[in-house]
Amino acid sequence: MRSRILFLLPLAGSLLLTGCLSPSRDTPPLQIWDDMKAQPKYKAQQQSPLFADKRSSRRPPEGTVAIGQLGGDDAYRWGVVASQYVGKNQEPVTPELLAQGQLKFNTYCAPCHSRVGDGKGIVGIRAGAAFQPANLIEPRVQQMNDGELYSVASEGRRTMMGYRTQTSDHDRWAIVAYLRALHRANSGTKEDVPENLRAQLN
Ligand code: HEC
Repeated sequence: MRSRILFLLPLAGSLLLTGCLSPSRDTPPLQIWDDMKAQPKYKAQQQSPLFADKRSSRRPPEGTVAIGQLGGDDAYRWGVVASQYVGKNQEPVTPELLAQGQLKFNTYCAPCHSRVGDGKGIVGIRAGAAFQPANLIEPRVQQMNDGELYSVASEGRRTMMGYRTQTSDHDRWAIVAYLRALHRANSGTKEDVPENLRAQLN
């Protein structure tokens, strides 16, 4: 008999508790455990003592973009419009842009492609034949237009991974501008040197 009561006790207990949480009652149910139903949080338009203007609803930080709501300048973001690479750099090329491009190229591209872009960076030297970064100053790469270079930097190609998440769109356009400077530096002739300095060349 005693064991039967012991057996029924938890059953009776759980029936009681189910009653407490019944959704059909008008009065708020008695809560033994709140199951995180009551959380300290702000509701819309509530005041907060935390901020000087007392608004709990804060403005999002400048430049915030909600998922799926990024305005569509495909040329700038992807370097591609209507399945074609855009021809020209989407940033005006200025000394500042080139300086930024140099900084980012030396950080994100040079470990593999080397600071002069010839593909002889430290990674390729260590990795051996299985992973050889391309020579970025060879004619094949020089002939790519700016959108294609931007797209490779962003999405990667074949064995190269993309750098879209590590760098901003602006930085990658800067890298493309700097890559053009490397191309130019590599195809310079004697005539590019100011006349008064040419005598110093040998
Ligand atoms: C971890 C090493 C690594 C880094 C860092 C790297 N690349 Fe590469 N890159 C490669 C390899 C490897 C290839 C050759 C891919 C292949 O042909 O399989 C390549 C190829 C390329 C090509 C030629 C693509 C083609 O069609 O042949 C370009 C352009 C290029 N990289 C640009 C960049 C730029 C710009 C950066 C910096 C944002 C960068 N890479 C960073 C490894 C790297």
